[in-house]
Amino acid sequence: MSIVDIIEKKKYGNHLTEEEIKNIVFGYTDGKIPDYQMSAFLMAVWFKGMDENELAIFTKAMIDSGKTIDLSRIEGIKVDKHSSGGVADTVTIPLIPIVASLGVPACKMSGRGLGHTGGTIDKLESIPGFRTEISIEEFVNIVNRIKGAIISQSNELVPADKKIYALRDVTSTVDSIPLIASSIMSKKIAAGTDAIVLDVKVGNGAFMQDLDSALKLATAMVNIGQSLNRNTVAYITDMNQPLGNAIGNSIEIIEAIDILKGNGSQRLFEVIETLGAEMLRLGGVVDTMEEGKALVKKAIKDGSALKKFEEIIEAQGGNKEIIYNTSLLPQAKFKKDVIAAQSGYINRIDAKGLGKLAQFLGAGRERKDEVIDLSVGLFFNKKIGDKVEKGEPIGTILANDATKLEEALNRVMKLFEVVETPTSPPPLIYYRVSKEGVQKLF
Ligand code: URA
Ligand code: CA
Repeated sequence: MSIVDIIEKKKYGNHLTEEEIKNIVFGYTDGKIPDYQMSAFLMAVWFKGMDENELAIFTKAMIDSGKTIDLSRIEGIKVDKHSSGGVADTVTIPLIPIVASLGVPACKMSGRGLGHTGGTIDKLESIPGFRTEISIEEFVNIVNRIKGAIISQSNELVPADKKIYALRDVTSTVDSIPLIASSIMSKKIAAGTDAIVLDVKVGNGAFMQDLDSALKLATAMVNIGQSLNRNTVAYITDMNQPLGNAIGNSIEIIEAIDILKGNGSQRLFEVIETLGAEMLRLGGVVDTMEEGKALVKKAIKDGSALKKFEEIIEAQGGNKEIIYNTSLLPQAKFKKDVIAAQSGYINRIDAKGLGKLAQFLGAGRERKDEVIDLSVGLFFNKKIGDKVEKGEPIGTILANDATKLEEALNRVMKLFEVVETPTSPPPLIYYRVSKEGVQKLF
C-alpha cells in the first residue's frame, strides 16, 4: 500500500495493519517518507485516533527504530517511574533512594526541564560534581552495587520519537493522546525496566488540564505497557498548584533532602509515599499498598533512605556533604520575601504561571540548548485552603538579577487568589489505573 493510501485510510478512521504502521514509522525515520506526508498522517491521527492494537504496534515500531537498553545484568524486578511533568514536582529525587534502600532496583532515566516544567537532571546537576551522563555499563554496575541511580536519558533511544516530536511541535499535533502516550511509553520501554509507575499530572500546571483527558492518557499508556509486557500502573495526581514548596533546581534538591529527613511539603510526601509503595509492590517487595506505605515511612524515619541518597550522590561523583550543608549548593545573590497583600484564604494558585516565573528568573529554558541558572527560583509555604494574614511572608524569591527580582515580585501576587471565605484544598490523588481497571481514590 502506498503512503498516500495509508494516510487516506487513517483519514477515514480505518484500522491500520501492522505492516502499514511499520511502513510509516520506519519509512519516516529512514528519511524515505517526507515531512509533508508524515504531517498529514499525524493530523489524521489527531482527528481519528488509534485503537489499542494500533497504538501498541505503533509504539513497538518506534522502539524498534533505535537501540534499546539491556538491563538483564541487574538482578530482581527493575522498576522505573515517570511523571508527565509539573511544577515543584520534586518526586523522583527522594523516591529513588527510598525504594532503592528497600531493595527494589530503581533504574531511573530522567530528562531536563522544558518550558514551565522542571527536569530531574537539571536539579541533580546543582549538586557539585554529580554526573548524569553515565554509560549504561556504569549505570548497571551502580544499580547492582547500591540498587539505585538516576541518569540522563540516552540520546540513542527511539530516534523515531525525536523526529516525530519535532514535526508535531510545528504541525499542531502535540496534544494528541495516542501520540503523547506512544511517545512517552516508547522511551520508557526502550529504557529496559520490567515495570513502570506513571504519574500523570492534571490541572493548570500540567499537560492535561482536565480529569477526563488525564484518564484517557493514563489508560492508553497502561494498555501500551501491558501489551508490550511491562507491568504498568498509572496514578493521576493533582497539578492545580505546585506540588512541593520549592520551584527551581538547587532549592528543589534542598526540599528533596527535607523530605528524606521527614520534613518538606505534606502533599509532595503523599505522592512519594503512594508511588513508592506501588514501586515496592511491582518490585515484589510487598503485597499491598499499605505495607508499601509503611515501609516508605520506615525508610525515612530510620534514616536509611537519606543514607541511600548519600550513596547515590557519591557513586555518581557528587559532593555528598550537601546533605548536611546545603550552602554548598549554588546560591542566588538576592533573596526577598513575598508579602501577603490581604488577609483571607488561598483559593487559587496558577501553577503554570509560577513555573513560568521560575523560568523567567533563569531556572528553566525555552529551547533545549539554553543554559540555566541552578541557584534561582521560588519558595512558597502556602497551599490552596491555607489562611494568610496581610503583611505575612508567604514565600521567597531567589534571583541573581535585581531587575528580574523586582519584576518577579510584581508578577507573583497575580498568580494567587485570596478570598474572604474559607476554602478547601483540591484532592491530591484522583485515580489509579492498572490492568485491573480504574480505581477512584478521591
Ligand atoms: N512528553 C513526551 O515525551 N512526549 C509527548 O508527546 C509529550 C510529553
Ligand atoms: Ca520530568
